[in-house]
Amino acid sequence: MSFKNIQIKLLNTRKLTPDEQIPYELLLLADETIEAINKYITKSSIYVLESEGKQIAAYALFELNKTEVEIKNIAVHTACQGYGIGKFLLHDATIKAAENGYRFLLIGTAENAIKQLNLYRKAGFNFHALKKDFYIKNYPHPIIEEGIQLRNMVILRKAII
Ligand code: ACO
Repeated sequence: MSFKNIQIKLLNTRKLTPDEQIPYELLLLADETIEAINKYITKSSIYVLESEGKQIAAYALFELNKTEVEIKNIAVHTACQGYGIGKFLLHDATIKAAENGYRFLLIGTAENAIKQLNLYRKAGFNFHALKKDFYIKNYPHPIIEEGIQLRNMVILRKAII
């Protein structure tokens, strides 16, 4: 699958209905296990981006409280990464959060996930909190990425105007 010739602006995300299948294959790109995903996914709104009948990207919005909603998972099919879709999804999530009356959009990632942190910072998110030992407490096995064990989660937050 190639994404080079598709104009993202012409695409719209679609909210999955409760009877549709959860796109675990995509969500597993952003989270380690189905068990971890199941902790939030049934209470989340899932938005997917489709191209030629295939789901190529997804994100999940989870309400924390009446004013805050968190992107618990955001994933772009490996063949479609690096073409601006992640940036587009963050913008789309901001619009969806605003439409649903939230004042803040949050997102969390590992403290050593430099690419993701840069992407979120560029999209207007700022440091909000540190969840100490999140990846040690919430997963059965150590998660190693690029030779470093994941430990703390950084939470970033963006005010929705
Ligand atoms: N290395 C470094 N920077 C990169 C890379 C890369 N491989 N790919 C993209 N970027 C940069 C781009 O240069 C761009 O910055 P720019 O606007 O200054 O040029 C920025 O990242 C955004 O690029 P996009 O093309 O919009 O990102 P993409 O469509 O690849 O989506 C995402 C980003 C969602 C992180 C995707 O790569 C992915 O699904 N990764 C695997 C799953 C994942 O890590 N999800 C996030 C976990 S945290 C969570 O789910 C809450």
